Amino acid sequence: MEASMLEETIQNPNPYPIIAEQHYDDIWHLCQQARDLAWDPAKHIDWKLLEEEVSTLPDEVKTAGAEWWSLRAWMEHGATPYGAERFRQAVFEHQPFEIKQHVANFIQEELRHHEASFRIAKALGGYQPSPRSDYLQLIIPKFHDEKEERQMSFYAGMAVNTLFEQLSGELLTARYRNARFKGIREACKMILRDEARHIQFGRILMRRFFGELDAEEKEMLGAKFAGKLRGSLLNGVYSVVNLRADERKRSARARALAAEYGLGATNPDEEVDIIAAALKQIREDVAPYDVPIPIIPEIEGDRELIIKQEDVA
Ligand SMILES: [Fe+2]
Ligand SMILES: [Fe+2]
Repeated sequence: MEASMLEETIQNPNPYPIIAEQHYDDIWHLCQQARDLAWDPAKHIDWKLLEEEVSTLPDEVKTAGAEWWSLRAWMEHGATPYGAERFRQAVFEHQPFEIKQHVANFIQEELRHHEASFRIAKALGGYQPSPRSDYLQLIIPKFHDEKEERQMSFYAGMAVNTLFEQLSGELLTARYRNARFKGIREACKMILRDEARHIQFGRILMRRFFGELDAEEKEMLGAKFAGKLRGSLLNGVYSVVNLRADERKRSARARALAAEYGLGATNPDEEVDIIAAALKQIREDVAPYDVPIPIIPEIEGDRELIIKQEDVA
């Protein structure tokens, strides 16, 4: 092979040298669990049965449920381009085998959450392949901004991401409890089982790497967390609080309707309480590492938690 051709094959990311030895037993353990607990959304859930069960619901309810599960599907998909970038970065930075394996599992798992979600939307009579309102079309792509991610180190960035997994895990737990239909309930349960591993990965990263970050990096990490939450996730993804008034009203009503009929959704008021409780937990989790998370005014409302945080420190 000509030298110039060889060079072409090892452009960015350059995978060499490939580190195959294992460094992190706890992360490898998660990879083994992922293999044992793999599931197939197409086969695991009886989609025909779900279609039949929801067929008698009023049209307005089915439409609200399909919109909700379409949104869930976009959210789950949002994690896959993010994961692809992290995989690329893991290769480029020559991370150990189990890190690359975990990130590959993460992509695969988020894809199957995406699949289960769009299948539910289809069973309800209509997956919407792109967000219904122009406003959401502007907001959802901001969910993953690679420029923002690149300002953090690999492990710090992944740890921030898993703080969001923790938040969305709490919301999903409430949606699982809300689900009255077997297929929807099962999908929520299986997604939660995968998410538990993603959250566990974050805890391992925190334990292993947060101690090494300097104060400036920790501050940036907290600011990035708050920025992403306020800038995109509260705009209709985790909650509707930061949506434009007309869109907030419309999507809150659809969400409340889906929740009322047990379609695995949450009432918008309930969402704010869940996010507030999850934020409190996250602050407690990161407190030992002195990672300051700015107050989220639209959720926390007052300075009570800042004061508590200062008490801890
Ligand atoms: Fe997911
Ligand atoms: Fe996840």
